[in-house]
Amino acid sequence: MEATFSAPRGLGGDLYPPADKSITHRALMLAAVAAGESRVFNPLSTGDCLATRRCLEDLGVRFAPLPPGGRPGLRIAGRGLTGLRGPAGALDAGNSGTTLRLLAGLIAGLPIRVVLGGDDSLNSRPMLRIVEPLRSMGADIRGASGGRYPPLEFLPGGGSLGPADYCLPVASAQVKSTLLFAGLRAASPSLLTGKIDSRDHTERLYHYLGLPLSREAGFLRLEPVDSIPPFELEVPGDFSSAAFFITGALISGQELTVRGCGLNPTRLGFLRVLERMGAQLEVRDEGESGGEPVGSIRVRPGALSAVTVTAEEVPALIDEIPLVAVLGAFARGVTAVCGAGELRYKESDRIRAVVDMLGALGGRAEPKEDGFSVDGPQVLSGGTVDSGGDHRIAMAGAILAAGAGTPVTVERFEAAAVSFPDFISDFRRLGGEVTE
Ligand code: S3P
Repeated sequence: MEATFSAPRGLGGDLYPPADKSITHRALMLAAVAAGESRVFNPLSTGDCLATRRCLEDLGVRFAPLPPGGRPGLRIAGRGLTGLRGPAGALDAGNSGTTLRLLAGLIAGLPIRVVLGGDDSLNSRPMLRIVEPLRSMGADIRGASGGRYPPLEFLPGGGSLGPADYCLPVASAQVKSTLLFAGLRAASPSLLTGKIDSRDHTERLYHYLGLPLSREAGFLRLEPVDSIPPFELEVPGDFSSAAFFITGALISGQELTVRGCGLNPTRLGFLRVLERMGAQLEVRDEGESGGEPVGSIRVRPGALSAVTVTAEEVPALIDEIPLVAVLGAFARGVTAVCGAGELRYKESDRIRAVVDMLGALGGRAEPKEDGFSVDGPQVLSGGTVDSGGDHRIAMAGAILAAGAGTPVTVERFEAAAVSFPDFISDFRRLGGEVTE
């Protein structure tokens, strides 16, 4: 599907972002193996999280909507840590790396055979990062090129695994969470060291559920458990989705307030970058949900200046880096990102994608192996951006229309539904126009 976006008066106002994708995945998966019925309010119910739900249903987990009249959400009948059922056919994680990798931690070593794959994009993403540590815990996993790529086949095991004793070579919350899931069924405590400073939703959820996970200088230690308690949890809004309209407001000189948004510090690196670029921000912590801080963010525009994003900062804004390229095109000076080689392994090669995206609108970004630079300000023309099937590139392309002042057409815009199903109606509500 093709959609054309324009925002001659800019994008501003109030935004309630869709539910957090990372937290929804984790809540659904933990509820699926809890000892009883959990209730998850406001889960993200499209795209990637729907893939998680369908895979869990194929593993025998029952989901039901909460009754009308109350808060919307799902009832999930947990099957216990070792109770997932062997599926009739292969599981399809669609476009979702988080579904595939985290689910691997939930099923590795269970006494069932599971084949787990996805779409063409997912089937070309690297999996050895989870396969190798899971194998060292005793899981028997096969797959193309020795398990490098999905589909992965999990052979039946005895239910429990050896402990994870692993030094993470990449700062990946997916890898960390896979091992924290598998470690619940280990025979003895697991230790994770190395690059553990990525988003910490799994750790927070474990603390919320009272699971024996501790963090000490430089490592995480998880004790195995017999069962996990059923729970209730309200999923906050997704900062990564809000970041698109925050960017749209800043490049079009408007004010925006984001409400009901998750404010987990391990996700807010983008705000720290925006402050350095000259944006005025007011962040209000207004409460907590499932161990996650929640609140509002008010953004007021200012003259934007270039910024350098360093390797140490990258994990806290990994999904927002395409937006740093968008902002760089409107900022004075050379904006540079380095140490972000992980971008090459996302739903698309996002370094190449941002270079192509700005190029398609008459702008320019200089690619590097592990990042890019953008010399601004640039005058962008209208044009056509191909999302390449990547939700974050689809939405970054649409948002560029707010700063370019001319219409931008995005091909394969349907990809946006992976994380932001109401993007088009929010774009209109915040002052833009969309032709589908
Ligand atoms: C996610 C972790 C990140 C992120 C992805 C969601 C998660 O991936 O890019 O959108 O929910 O754990 P990596 O862990 O591979 O960096």
